Amino acid sequence: MITVITGIGELTTNDEELGQISDAAVVIDGDRIAWVGPAVRAPAADARVDLDGRAVLPGWVDSHTHLVFAGDRTEEFATRMAGKPYTAGGIAVTVAATRAATDAELSDVLRRHVAEAISQGTTYLETKTGYGLTVADELRSARLAAAHVDEVTFLGAHLVPPGWAADDYVDLVRGEMLDTVAPHVGWADVFCETGAFDEDQSRAILTAARRRGLGLRVHGNQLGFGPGVRLAVELGAASVDHCTYLTPSDVDALAGSATVATLLPACDLSTRQPLPPARTLLDAGATVALASNCNPGSSYTTSMAYCVATAVLQMQLTVAEAVRAATLGGARALRRDTGAGAIGLLRPGSRADLHVLDAPSATHLAYRPGVPLTHSVWQHGIRVR
Ligand code: NIG
Repeated sequence: MITVITGIGELTTNDEELGQISDAAVVIDGDRIAWVGPAVRAPAADARVDLDGRAVLPGWVDSHTHLVFAGDRTEEFATRMAGKPYTAGGIAVTVAATRAATDAELSDVLRRHVAEAISQGTTYLETKTGYGLTVADELRSARLAAAHVDEVTFLGAHLVPPGWAADDYVDLVRGEMLDTVAPHVGWADVFCETGAFDEDQSRAILTAARRRGLGLRVHGNQLGFGPGVRLAVELGAASVDHCTYLTPSDVDALAGSATVATLLPACDLSTRQPLPPARTLLDAGATVALASNCNPGSSYTTSMAYCVATAVLQMQLTVAEAVRAATLGGARALRRDTGAGAIGLLRPGSRADLHVLDAPSATHLAYRPGVPLTHSVWQHGIRVR
């Protein structure tokens, strides 16, 4: 079945040659894009959809979420808004609730949040384990996540669970836990931060994961300056996520590397941290991604549009830069931006993941912040909303 989507007022392709096209059309053949160009030159197809001048973007690529959880941390959030600082320790509250939940309850949470994300234009999702922190609970989290999202990351090193000596727990994570979970995930991550794992512990876990063939990601520089970014670049991690506190040498290291700086502005707002230096990173030549960091503690939102609006209104990115970071940037952070079936861009051969806005241009994402602008969503060439 070949479908032509026409009447596109503004098409963001993220392709260097195709650029942004006015009065455009896209042809979908199965789950792939077959053709992109001016509507007047669109080839014939079996079916035709007219978007009446609406803007179309690649679907959001949310490259950082924590969706395998149970419980609620509303009170912690309210206390924070009354002035109490965020600390890594809150993770233990969600760990207890997650361990106590049934598989069906955790699956339901996953299903609801994935559906919520798709309804807002997200077409590709990564999620992490990290609220289990026993061998059995991390395995369960990985298996459940794999049934609902596109990419799963092992985050056994999220927090040293209560009752454990840090070095014993690091040995468990890089040994039995990694061996058990690795067959079910593509990535490994470590929360490299004061109150979680230090540089040596993080390096030990990440190098063990790399030996197991997993790609690497790092939570770094979230709550203060630290070694996370440097370590991520040294180990060739695909991304280092948060990047709220960066020194000039962190920025230089990212700019000279293939490690994507994944920024999580909804988290910084929810934890009353400063916003990350996105403008400085882009000007230095680093690759930037935007992601929601949806989790019940530090960032309880699935809205990529909120992250994009924040990046434009408060982080000095242009609309085009913010949209690119939330689509192609996320795809780069997951190493899915090239080859057949690439995501985060719309060009012949890429996956047919489209986000149609109920607006004439992507600028409305920041011009009308907070307004639900998703008109329709196509995932794998199928209209899912
Ligand atoms: O990315 N930083 C570590 N992990 C999550 C927070 C999880 C939580 O507070 O429950 C994050 O912000």
